Amino acid sequence: MFINVKMVLGGEGLRISASILNADLANLEKELLRVEASGADMLHLDVMDGVFTESITFGDYVIKKLRPRSRLLFDTHLMVKDPTKLIPLFAKAGADMLTIHVESDCDVAACLKLIRSLGLRVGLSLNPGTPVEKLFPYLPLCDLILIMSVEPGAGGQPFLVSSCDKIKAVRIEADRQKVLLDVSVDGGINLETAELVRKAGASVLVTGTFLLRADDMANSVRQLKMDN
Ligand code: DX5
Ligand code: ZN
Repeated sequence: MFINVKMVLGGEGLRISASILNADLANLEKELLRVEASGADMLHLDVMDGVFTESITFGDYVIKKLRPRSRLLFDTHLMVKDPTKLIPLFAKAGADMLTIHVESDCDVAACLKLIRSLGLRVGLSLNPGTPVEKLFPYLPLCDLILIMSVEPGAGGQPFLVSSCDKIKAVRIEADRQKVLLDVSVDGGINLETAELVRKAGASVLVTGTFLLRADDMANSVRQLKMDN
């Protein structure tokens, strides 16, 4: 909405998407400013509906209120049973990118096309238990594939190493299909696991707990980008 999304998702180097799931949600503006000042490229917004996941987080109303307060790209992760009706609401609220789950109970291709038709960047995510091949038919419809390296539903879980093979498999298949896309990884990212996923081919790192716990978030963002 406020920046050229294509420019952020294109180019070289790792991009950092800061997840506020484990932030002090009672002081959202303060946390938002902390993320803005850190040099993170995107704000990762975890939307949970209490059906696809156990918990419920926040929805389009909160995103609408955050939108005028931030210039960051809003990377919106829809962990919901059926995103079909929600997609236009989140587009209107100011999301720049909408990522749905391949496991959702919807017509996945139709939803991806709907996101595109609304002028947003298109993401598709995969849970740890789902075979990576499920993603392959949809790669040409996507700007970004989001590999979950934890079970969706909570921040602060340990990184699942099996996600590295999935990142590699997506990279290989995207090359084979001649599709340009970002591969993002979500869950348990810290300096150590960032190195693993970068080597596997990730271009966007979603990090929540690691960044939020840092005394100097800007330094952690630099470390995640440079040490890898
Ligand atoms: C998990 C969420 C993640 C989570 C990652 O369901 O999708 O975005 O916030 O956070 P950390 O870095 O705490 O694993
Ligand atoms: Zn997420």
